[in-house]
Amino acid sequence: MKKVLLLVLALGVGAAVAIGACGRRPIRAGQGDLLQLAQARGLTPEDAARALKTFVPPGGRDEYMLFASGGHSGQVHVIGVPSMRLLKTIAVFTPEPWQGYGYGADWSEGALNGESNPDPGEHLRWGDSHHPALSETDGKYDGRWLYINDRAHGRIGMVDLSDFRAKQVLHVPNLQTSHGGVFATPDTRYVHISSKVPALKAWNAAKGQRVTVDDHLNRYADIYRGYSTFIRVDQATGRMNLKESFQIELPPYTQDLADAGKGASYGYAFINSYNVEMATGGLAHGKPPLEVGASALDFDYLHIVNWKKAEEVVAAGKFTEINGIRVISLETAVAEGLLFLAPEPRSPHGVDIAPKGDYITVSGKLDPHATVYGFDRIQKAIAEQTFEGKDRYGIPILKFDAVVAGKVELGAGPLHTQYDGQGNAYTSLYLESAVAKWTLGEPYHPADQAFKVVDKVSIHYNIGHLATAQGDTMDPHGKYLIAMNKWSIDRHSNVGPLHPQNFQLIDISGPKMELVADMPVGFGEPHYAQMIKAETVKAHEVYDPGVSPASMTKSGDAIASEKEARIVRRPGVVEVWMSVVRSHFTPDIVNAKVGDKVIVHLTNVEQTPDATHGFAVPMKNVMVSLDPGETTTVEFTVDKPGSYSFYCTEFCSALHLEMQGWLIVEPK
Ligand code: CUA
Repeated sequence: MKKVLLLVLALGVGAAVAIGACGRRPIRAGQGDLLQLAQARGLTPEDAARALKTFVPPGGRDEYMLFASGGHSGQVHVIGVPSMRLLKTIAVFTPEPWQGYGYGADWSEGALNGESNPDPGEHLRWGDSHHPALSETDGKYDGRWLYINDRAHGRIGMVDLSDFRAKQVLHVPNLQTSHGGVFATPDTRYVHISSKVPALKAWNAAKGQRVTVDDHLNRYADIYRGYSTFIRVDQATGRMNLKESFQIELPPYTQDLADAGKGASYGYAFINSYNVEMATGGLAHGKPPLEVGASALDFDYLHIVNWKKAEEVVAAGKFTEINGIRVISLETAVAEGLLFLAPEPRSPHGVDIAPKGDYITVSGKLDPHATVYGFDRIQKAIAEQTFEGKDRYGIPILKFDAVVAGKVELGAGPLHTQYDGQGNAYTSLYLESAVAKWTLGEPYHPADQAFKVVDKVSIHYNIGHLATAQGDTMDPHGKYLIAMNKWSIDRHSNVGPLHPQNFQLIDISGPKMELVADMPVGFGEPHYAQMIKAETVKAHEVYDPGVSPASMTKSGDAIASEKEARIVRRPGVVEVWMSVVRSHFTPDIVNAKVGDKVIVHLTNVEQTPDATHGFAVPMKNVMVSLDPGETTTVEFTVDKPGSYSFYCTEFCSALHLEMQGWLIVEPK
């Protein structure tokens, strides 16, 4: 494209019209106009080419959707690629009034308050969303659901992509924090999550497990454990079902990122770890700082989990139910041969499986190489018991040289790897602020061209994760790469000391990577993102009449029109079936007495796309967003007398301002 624009600038009108003629109005601008435009805006020909590569005309659509975690904003952001425009923010772990999420609406309270909360009295109102996982069929994104983990609390949220709303937040038992995953198995039979920092064995927040500093410093290896969790997904609804899920107990190393085997390695999961030293921190107690203690050894361990076998072990009843989930103990995992370790160079971070499932790329923060394990070698080493020993928990450690297929020196601080469809890998280099492109081995590249760096591009600055188009699936498209940069320092207008983070769009369609756009991310600290072909996602335009977002079926409280609207009173309760339509609520006056519980079943009786209304009650945390067709219930108690004007928060019609009613609270 760059060459094309340069041609345009050089050759003038004919070429310009040719470009513009791709199914659209021809561009009337001649050479002079385009040059003048570029010059007037201070753009170089390269800049202008970048603009053409990313521009989506008014009314146009992006080719891809990027689902990016919002970090400790607790949200997920949907961004169009290549335009890098924010399309939507989806609240998952945090309340968000625009979507009516967390302000009384039944479906949102159900999600936000979480399931299986070990401490039900503690209503968490924040989360640290980290790794999104789009559901997959046959190893490819299918556009049905999105799962995301909460780094802070060991939870998983589920977003239904038929309406882009979060429907479920599950507290995963025995985890306090999480990092490893979420990944979906290639058939979305399970979504996986493992602990980040180990928690007290069979951790139970509600019971407030007792531990002393002395226990922590001297019995760390005995009292803490990690857990690898396979959460079963209901194939009809996408909901996570704890009863059919299971966990595998792990040593109290700090388990880090994880990925699902696919193709050749289907049935396996791979989890990184660091701090196999089990450093405890405790400067004042004569211990080294955690980051020093955790970096003492030259190797940490890649955990290799045969989850297919684990599933059989659970089916055979070899588990203990702990806090509502079936747990395979470490001893059983070792005895059944479903857990192995492989050494990995110090303090690894990312573990990323190649498209065919044959290679496993691990990058160590403190090692300039990517280490590439061959799944065939792993299988052979397991079969032939090529072990270099066992760890203190008895888990066999595979011999490093026996399982490594290749090493490639990438640069300083390699973290995460994604792939394209041509057998290339792209690894983020945090310390070097760069992305390295390198080649995989056979069958992707002949042996003499394998494991070589072929290109590098600078980014700005401190890249964490990166995402290529469908780059963690069995169907990688290459094409675009998003660098998710932690720092932006000098890249954007000064908006105060908290800088936006920086997404950078890199064109990877040619042999050389080219940075084409910056996107300031001023709405959260993004971690990972996945990029899906936009047409794969098929969301509803409107809900069928009376559908509840909670169940995605018709609500028993739905009404067809304002004729069915009514108020029913019983002692202490005022229950309202209210219709919502441009531009009035029916009923528009609701009276209650101080102390009453008010239950309002709201139905937006419209079927016109985009005809969303709101139901907002001042001086109350009540804010419901009602999309066309939706039925949602909100409950609240009125405790002060007065007259409150509820109103519609969406500018829905010319008479939107008139779309209000009265809640009159009479004294007792
Ligand atoms: Cu309905 Cu404004």
